[in-house]
Amino acid sequence: MHGRGGRPIGGRLAVVRPGRRVGGGRAGRPVGPGRPLCTRRVRERRRACRDHRVVACRTADPDDGRHRCGPANGPPPARLRRLRTGTAACRRRRRRRRSRRRPDPGARGGTEHGRRNRDGPGHRGRGRGMTTSFIGADQNADDLAVAAMDPLRADDILAELPAANERADTAWMVDALADLIADFDTADVHTARAALRDLGFLAASLVRHDPDADLHGIEPTLLRLAAVADEVPRDTVYSYTTRNPVGPRRRGFLLSDEEHVFIDSVVAATQALNLAVDDLAACRDRADLDEDVLLAALGQVHDGVEVLRKNLRTVQRTITPDYFSHRLRPYFPTMDIGGKAYMGPGGAQMPLLVLDVLLLAPSEPGQLGAWHDDYLVENVLYLPPTHRAVCDDTLLAYRSGNSPLLRCLLESPRVRAEYAALLKRILRFRYPHRQVARANMAIRAEGSLGSGGYTVEALDHLIEITTSKAAVTLPLPRERRGSADDRDR
Ligand code: HEM
Repeated sequence: MHGRGGRPIGGRLAVVRPGRRVGGGRAGRPVGPGRPLCTRRVRERRRACRDHRVVACRTADPDDGRHRCGPANGPPPARLRRLRTGTAACRRRRRRRRSRRRPDPGARGGTEHGRRNRDGPGHRGRGRGMTTSFIGADQNADDLAVAAMDPLRADDILAELPAANERADTAWMVDALADLIADFDTADVHTARAALRDLGFLAASLVRHDPDADLHGIEPTLLRLAAVADEVPRDTVYSYTTRNPVGPRRRGFLLSDEEHVFIDSVVAATQALNLAVDDLAACRDRADLDEDVLLAALGQVHDGVEVLRKNLRTVQRTITPDYFSHRLRPYFPTMDIGGKAYMGPGGAQMPLLVLDVLLLAPSEPGQLGAWHDDYLVENVLYLPPTHRAVCDDTLLAYRSGNSPLLRCLLESPRVRAEYAALLKRILRFRYPHRQVARANMAIRAEGSLGSGGYTVEALDHLIEITTSKAAVTLPLPRERRGSADDRDR
């Protein structure tokens, strides 16, 4: 993707910041005589469609100060009516997005376990008798709820964080942390996650500029919040991305165009993978699991992995290794909290890990298998509790040999073929991703680690494990084999 000097190879920087608030700009140009209606209509409509917002025309006639396009002048013209509600395509997209975010409550059970394995009108399955657990859909909805929250009233402080990071102003960070945690407590899971997110941005910035910073003052608060959130006592890939608000409330270390692209890409990939986890997780303990149900679930995973691959490409084209390695990566340091080292937010914490557990476990015997077992356990710790539960249950069932999913994955030739195709799809993410990681490591000091604490060798291992599983499942055609480096393109 990039040469040593950080020169972009894959394309130019073309950045749109999604989620920017619409309609908050300066007033429109006055309409001159003979100009029948608002000249900003087209621009406004484009913006309205992009954000699915209702945008009223704010252009007033200079003579009488009235809006020629507004209701004061009678019913608005059709084009402006469309503007207010969005175009038909825009409305369709909005409906689709809403139904994805909020699955039909009638299809959801009351308890977390009750939500699994439930047929209902809200399921997204395409196959006969498809069920969905809504684990991933719930995860997306939960994360959106957390993103909307500001329990520490930290919006203003965090808006100043990028400037403080530019100044490396650690005194400001220490004061900000002390202000935010003063007298704060909660017993609510979402509130605790939102608070951990905001403290995480400040604490990671502090440690980035002062690796010996003393975190003892905030440690009890972090540990208390972690217990309520049922997660690790620091920021994770979820707090950085899917629980991070969009628009003016977005949190970031630098809030540069590159960081926006990075966050947006990981958000899109994580949300798609969450949904992919849904159907497959629902399959794992169904005694009546049949081919069609499983094929439909594998299809959903296929879609999720494709979104992951495309978003990696966006990052690859947009962010130079120089920018990522020297500007962004230092904000994901390891932190010692409560006597334990916690890794920074990173890809290894993304829901692809849950798919790894479902599709690549149980690990083969030998060194590589042992490495994989450790890799899974080390990173499952950073997942939200619903995904941790999926991983723990699956590993237990695989080890005991009592897994309908594993049986069904390997039994029928149709499923085996689809399973192998899916693993190859995962490799279509893993090869270019390793290439990105290698380009970054090439410009860093020798022995540098990813934010998850691994070298690029970990990515080699994951590729090897995925390839050998695909080969066992269904041998790859001869002409598609080649050296790993051939496929790194
Ligand atoms: C921009 C530069 C990037 C670099 C240098 C990079 C580097 C790494 C490294 C070194 C790892 C190993 C674990 C660790 O120590 O963190 C890793 C894992 C991972 N990264 Fe990235 N990454 C980048 C971007 C991305 C993006 C944009 C995505 C997703 C859209 C992503 C998804 C993943 C995933 C899913 C893993 C887990 C390993 C796997 O399943 O193959 N990474 N990354």
